[in-house]
Amino acid sequence: METAIKAPRGTRDVLGDESWKWAHVLDVCRDVARDFGYSEVLLPIFEHTELFCRGIGDATDVVEKEMYTFIDKGDRSITLRPELTASMARSYLEHDMRRAPQPVKLWSAGPMFRYERPQKGRYRQFWQTDFEILGVQDPMADLETIDTSMEIYRRLGLTNLQVLINSVGCPKCRPAYRDALKRFIESGPGGLEALCETCRGRFDRNPLRILDCKKLACKEITEGAPAILDSLCDECAAHFEDVTRGLERIGADARLDKRLVRGLDYYTKTAFEILAGELGSQNAVCGGGRYDNLAEAIGGPSVPGVGFASGIERIVITLEGQGVFLGDKPHVDVYVVTASNGLALEAAALAHELRASGIAADTDYAGRGMKAQMKQAAASGAAFVCIIGEDEAASGTVSVKNMSDGEQRSIARNEAASKLALWREERNR
Ligand code: HAM
Repeated sequence: METAIKAPRGTRDVLGDESWKWAHVLDVCRDVARDFGYSEVLLPIFEHTELFCRGIGDATDVVEKEMYTFIDKGDRSITLRPELTASMARSYLEHDMRRAPQPVKLWSAGPMFRYERPQKGRYRQFWQTDFEILGVQDPMADLETIDTSMEIYRRLGLTNLQVLINSVGCPKCRPAYRDALKRFIESGPGGLEALCETCRGRFDRNPLRILDCKKLACKEITEGAPAILDSLCDECAAHFEDVTRGLERIGADARLDKRLVRGLDYYTKTAFEILAGELGSQNAVCGGGRYDNLAEAIGGPSVPGVGFASGIERIVITLEGQGVFLGDKPHVDVYVVTASNGLALEAAALAHELRASGIAADTDYAGRGMKAQMKQAAASGAAFVCIIGEDEAASGTVSVKNMSDGEQRSIARNEAASKLALWREERNR
């Protein structure tokens, strides 16, 4: 049906056929968070723009091109959050979580906003689940972070995911690498001019991102470029060694990708992504890494951190693409049908009683005939149908039809809730 006003480009309505899958994914995230010792935080959807400019970095695509920023009625510059890590660090500092035993492990989930070109798996409003470990530098926290994300996918039944890992160094070793990379590009056959326009703009401000450009020309230019992994300082190299040894030890199948750089400026040392073939060109189901200077960048003391975020839409696309069976779409246990409209009150009262006893129940409010109600009952997925006719109403009984074998029996009206609860249990056993 045409409507005059449609959802804005890059947003989508997640309807009933899909939303239960989201609920399942979020339930798994919540279970994993509990099992790994994370506590849930619910953070604002909008923040002061400055948080993202300083935290994510002015020269990133996210801050430069993709933020939903507006001036509010109090003349403040406000931005809809494009991600959660900067907000997590802000919250940690604001609530002085340094005073708590370290590390502090926080998780959250909710909508993020980026003004990107929409395509499969890429939206302007999308959901992330985000996990952060704040307050420790231990490489085992990086290892646990990767394992946490993989545990979510394991429990969901996803397979064939590719973990890519790299180190992006730190402010001690990165400047020398940036210079080496720039020299390499400048001295190439076409020099700086051979880069695409975006990468020419990145050359001075953010040359590492050139390694991530999808354009063929830029890929060719940076082929054979020096790898940051070969210019790490001793501390970063030892850290990376510990993380990769840890991954081997827990049997995680991670591949070193020397070209992996992340699109957000706060990363130091470990950077990783998890890819799923079902996603097409937007193939990252998860991204994360360490960010030891983020807290300082947003005006706090030095607080190391490591974490990841995974896109819920992309998880659901991958689940569907891999044909993972998630069980049946949730449905009511019982559908109450009446032989005539005059019995609607009886149906409403029975449905009320059943629900009060913990039995999910539904009934008809559209004045359908009995045949149409039975059709509706079948469509609802209910395992049992309670039928109330004139005879049943007069004799204080209900006819119960078992939808799986078609068997119908008459039971006392006042025993309906207890009997149905019993049958439902037997059926689910
Ligand atoms: P990110 O790589 O920008 O990292 O995003 C993480 C994940 O969010 C992506 O791998 C993808 O699954 C999903 N995602 C990103 N943009 C979109 C989009 N436009 N539409 C649909 N899904 C999207 C971060 O956001 C970091 N804050 C991750 C992190 C946490 N690093 C450390 N802690």
